[in-house]
Amino acid sequence: MAFEIVATGRAVPARRITNDELAKTLDTSDEWIRSHTGIGNRHVADEQTATSDLAVAAAQEALKMLLDKDKSLNGSLEAAAVSLDAVIVATASPDFFGFPSTACLVQDRLGAHKAAAMDLVAGCTGFIYGVETAAGILSVRSDRKRVLVIGAEILSKITNWQDRSTCVLFGDGAGAVIIDKTDAPASGPGKRGLLRSILGADGSGGDYLIMRRGGTRNPYKAGETLEAGPVIEMNGRAVYNFAVKAVTDTMERLLQEEGISVDDIARIVPHQANARIVQAAAKRLGIPEEKFFLNIEEYANTSAASVPIALDELNRTGGLKKGDLIMTLGFGAGLTYGGNLIVW
Ligand code: ACO
Repeated sequence: MAFEIVATGRAVPARRITNDELAKTLDTSDEWIRSHTGIGNRHVADEQTATSDLAVAAAQEALKMLLDKDKSLNGSLEAAAVSLDAVIVATASPDFFGFPSTACLVQDRLGAHKAAAMDLVAGCTGFIYGVETAAGILSVRSDRKRVLVIGAEILSKITNWQDRSTCVLFGDGAGAVIIDKTDAPASGPGKRGLLRSILGADGSGGDYLIMRRGGTRNPYKAGETLEAGPVIEMNGRAVYNFAVKAVTDTMERLLQEEGISVDDIARIVPHQANARIVQAAAKRLGIPEEKFFLNIEEYANTSAASVPIALDELNRTGGLKKGDLIMTLGFGAGLTYGGNLIVW
């Protein structure tokens, strides 16, 4: 039994904001942002667009791709949606805090009537957790065959646009993959799909990346007036140090547990938070930087959406070949970290 990614999709808002545009209203510069992060642009949703809208658009792209792979669907998008057994949406910026889950909104809009639906909150590592969760859901019942995993965020609506130390970093977007349970082996010769994952957390660092207001710890009080909604607060240096260690440790453990070397990996697809985090981790392990796929220049940090957006971009531009061994890596709020080893 193997868990194989059979289709991918992505969606980003049309509005693209360059560093120079930000610098018109903020004390920053294209030079500072590029040299400290590798970010050149970000895509930002309009007022009407919510996270589920981007999630649905990315999922529809993945379902369209699925039609080419699964001829039993007879080219019907409706049939493709009904073939889903579960919809997982990894997000830290849901349409509604609490409920209903963004996944339920997506399930309804897609017409995925047979599917269970749930959100997964693990910060920027949400998609990595989602892939492993999908494999778990598929493995425990023989009649489950197919799970849609989406990473979707509209961080621009929970960003303090006056805080130059955070607002330059984030962008909006969604990426989706469809994971099928197949008869292929998951280990040994001819192994395919998800080989293994590492999922970890260090909750002692929760304060380093936090949205303080609105939850049960700090609920809004009657009569309270707010100048602005809840926003991301971050200790950038602490997150940076955590991220470099988390990424290096996860890479080493995945290689060691699978009994392979980095030369066996065709592509490493890291969470796109800061190009310098990737460069530092690559240097520590002596891995050529070209092995890491980076599209942070265009999209900035889209949190749980960044890895599936990157996978779809690679997939659609011929950057991944069937049989390639790829490694995903994530780290983020929680604090959380993790990675997947996947044969494409
Ligand atoms: N433009 C110009 N100057 C700036 C900006 C900006 N946008 N932001 C900060 N500065 C200034 C600071 O005020 C400071 O000035 P000072 O020395 O006069 O006080 C100076 O630049 C250096 O600031 P640092 O915070 O020390 O800069 P650093 O090199 O650490 O880079 C950064 C900051 C880019 C945020 C880095 O720490 C980082 O990338 N951290 C990790 C962040 C991350 O990955 N977060 C996402 C996790 S994922 C999730 O779950 C959402």
